Amino acid sequence: MLKGKHIIVGITGGIAAYKTATLVRLLIKQGAEVQVVMTPNAREFITPVTLSALTGKPVVSEFFTANTGEWHSHVDLGLWADAMVIAPATASTIGKMANGVADNMLVTTYLSAKAPVFVAPAMDLDMMAHPSTARNLDLLRSYGNHIIEPAEGELASHLVGRGRMEEPENIVRVLDGFFSRKQRLAGKKVLITAGPTYERIDPVRFIGNFSTGKMGYALADAAARAGADVTVISGPVNVKASEHSVKVIPVESACQMYDACVKAFPESDIVIMCAAVADYAPVDVHDTKIKRENTEGMTIELKRNPDIAAALGSVKRPDQLLVGFALETDHEAENAVRKLKAKNLDMIVLNSLAVPGAGFATDTNQVTIFKADGSELSLPLMSKAETAANIIDNLS
Ligand code: PMT
Repeated sequence: MLKGKHIIVGITGGIAAYKTATLVRLLIKQGAEVQVVMTPNAREFITPVTLSALTGKPVVSEFFTANTGEWHSHVDLGLWADAMVIAPATASTIGKMANGVADNMLVTTYLSAKAPVFVAPAMDLDMMAHPSTARNLDLLRSYGNHIIEPAEGELASHLVGRGRMEEPENIVRVLDGFFSRKQRLAGKKVLITAGPTYERIDPVRFIGNFSTGKMGYALADAAARAGADVTVISGPVNVKASEHSVKVIPVESACQMYDACVKAFPESDIVIMCAAVADYAPVDVHDTKIKRENTEGMTIELKRNPDIAAALGSVKRPDQLLVGFALETDHEAENAVRKLKAKNLDMIVLNSLAVPGAGFATDTNQVTIFKADGSELSLPLMSKAETAANIIDNLS
């Protein structure tokens, strides 16, 4: 997938810069055209001569060539690229990228780039763990940049921990996977439900759950990156899609989510039901706030909400794919397979609250995918973004 792709490799000043020569060589071997952009500090770690010999192009490092005055246009570079990968990315450059501090050629090129950007951090474990690094990486994620998470291992300081730049072979794999996925859902309309639903008791109280929408919005981003036209029907959440093409229809209650899903379903090719829909809602919703003084105890009578996934499953066409989620606490696989059949789903994604790091509100998830044909695929604990990309890869 990398053949003929224009790739900017940005190098910053870290020990791992020596590995970037291998990255450049591997990209070129795959048929990519590579332009290296280095920060001034990066030149202390690897020479431009090595990189220009590998790419067959002069390395860009300054805004202009001192002796000729030739101007290097970061705008042209940004437009030329199909992808930009910054490896290694130091804490300093990550901070500059996150905050628009355009004081070198690499950051100005980053700010001008229209192409997807991949960032492979490399730094000492304490710098990696610092809240400022975490915040800056979160900002980059919110801009839609792809973070290639650093590995654990021995660092330049000889300390052992998280902060090693991902190996060049794996960075190439990530880029290759990105370009393969980009075509996978081209022309498909994907509908995703995300977040919780709120069932009103009175104007200030509701019955809800702990869903944050992180998993549903990660799926929306992954589907959009795979080329799909994506709509999210979303309960009340504070997260946003990173991909600007994702459309959001906000709803509050299960009944509103039901109406929006039923309306959008006929036009959808793929539907992924990731929302945590309240199964019950109060029979009576009070118009005014229920006063504590007026009630010693309280019983709220509940009625069952519609099962949205089952309703869509009952009218599903053969050309549509319906995917559910199952959030379980016990007898996980058994319950997931029962829901897959009962709701006439093609696929169900099981996550269990018994697994640390999985389920509500976490940035990670551990899922097992069950399909109607009886096949089963268990994925390791990984970020919700990676989980989502794997689910999208396994749609069928
Ligand atoms: O949002 P996060 O904080 O990132 O958390 C993600 C998540 C844990 C909410 C998500 O990964 C998840 O598991 N979502 C499904 C939660 C759930 O409601 O599971 P369930 O087993 O109760 O429901 C089974 C399926 O039926 C789900 O696809 C659900 O969307 C659907 N359903 C349930 C009830 C209902 N009335 N209508 C439905 O459509």
